[in-house]
Amino acid sequence: MPPRKTPSTQVLLDVLDALPPGQRLWVHGAGHGLYPLLGRGDAVQVLRCGPGALGRGDVALMRQGRKLVAHVVVSTRPWLTASLLGGTDPPGGVTLGRVVAVRRGPWVIPLPRPFRPALWVARQAMAAAWARPESRLVYRGVRDFFFSGWSRPLRQRLVGPLEVRLLRADDLDALLVFAGERLVVSPGFLRRQLRERWGLDASSRRGAAAGAFDGQGRLQGFAWVDSYRQEALPLDGVWVRSLVVAPQARRMKVATRLLGCLVDEARSQGEARVYADIDDDNAASLRTFGGAGFRRAAPELTRRTNEAWDAAGRTKALVVLERDLEP
Ligand SMILES: CC(C)(COP(=O)(O)OP(=O)(O)OC[C@H]1O[C@@H](n2cnc3c(N)ncnc32)[C@H](O)[C@@H]1OP(=O)(O)O)[C@@H](O)C(=O)NCCC(=O)NCCS
Repeated sequence: MPPRKTPSTQVLLDVLDALPPGQRLWVHGAGHGLYPLLGRGDAVQVLRCGPGALGRGDVALMRQGRKLVAHVVVSTRPWLTASLLGGTDPPGGVTLGRVVAVRRGPWVIPLPRPFRPALWVARQAMAAAWARPESRLVYRGVRDFFFSGWSRPLRQRLVGPLEVRLLRADDLDALLVFAGERLVVSPGFLRRQLRERWGLDASSRRGAAAGAFDGQGRLQGFAWVDSYRQEALPLDGVWVRSLVVAPQARRMKVATRLLGCLVDEARSQGEARVYADIDDDNAASLRTFGGAGFRRAAPELTRRTNEAWDAAGRTKALVVLERDLEP
């Protein structure tokens, strides 16, 4: 199939101008105003209407000069719009319609009108938080706000049921797609590990990788357990690594289930204990491991682990956790 050509903004503006009220259209290139709800390359679905049909907390698609922007309506009298994380827009601009859905990667997220108060409150909270200088902490707060309890029912419907299981050799494609989006591990390493260790039969498997698969066979979460020695790090035992859950699947116990699956496999491979090393400021991860039965390791092991990583060029402080595996 030939690559789809993205129409120029001018062509898009002409199409939108000609679109009768009440009609819908998917639009790419609506700016970065809805970040982090919307990322680069994502699209919005606009319902053609005038500003009179919009209320506080709706997302308006507007023409500002030669640019298209999707911004939140902060007030209607006076008419004020703003990006999710920034200040309000200068006056002017032509309202082209209301954004009724966003397409983020493979996900279509509807923005029904009952969602308006939540979006308005979220925007006010996030814009206030973003204005403060501790941007990294603030970013985590924003992300957690979007992917925490209040949005879980909606996300659960979008993600659907997940199957958590050990990865097999034929899961390579799904793994590489997930890794490309979310892991800093090289594809070559993952390919080799899956072929030579994790994806083998139960009798010859060494270490293991676990994944949470959705109905389309895509990974929504992933982690592996294996020895550090084979990566030349002077630490004994097996360690849980690369635990990552896609944002839309967070707070649904996916990580907990992945850890359970890896712990069971480590036990059946005869391990007496499983370890994990976690950035000391990663509260979400520390709580997740804590809930899965991991406890702080002895200070001596924590010191040696930090030294080993320092020598490998990593500077962040790590907390070491361990879980004993009863036979
Ligand atoms: C850390 C991470 C793997 C957790 O995945 P998850 O599937 O959302 O975790 P779970 O749903 O199994 O959470 C289990 C418990 O841990 C705690 N927890 C998890 N995420 C939390 C968060 N963001 N804030 C506070 N507590 C959190 C909660 O107690 C949660 O139980 P609850 O939802 O019933 O309150 C996920 O947030 C992630 O991928 N983060 C980015 C990558 C990362 O930091 N990985 C860890 C590297 S060591």
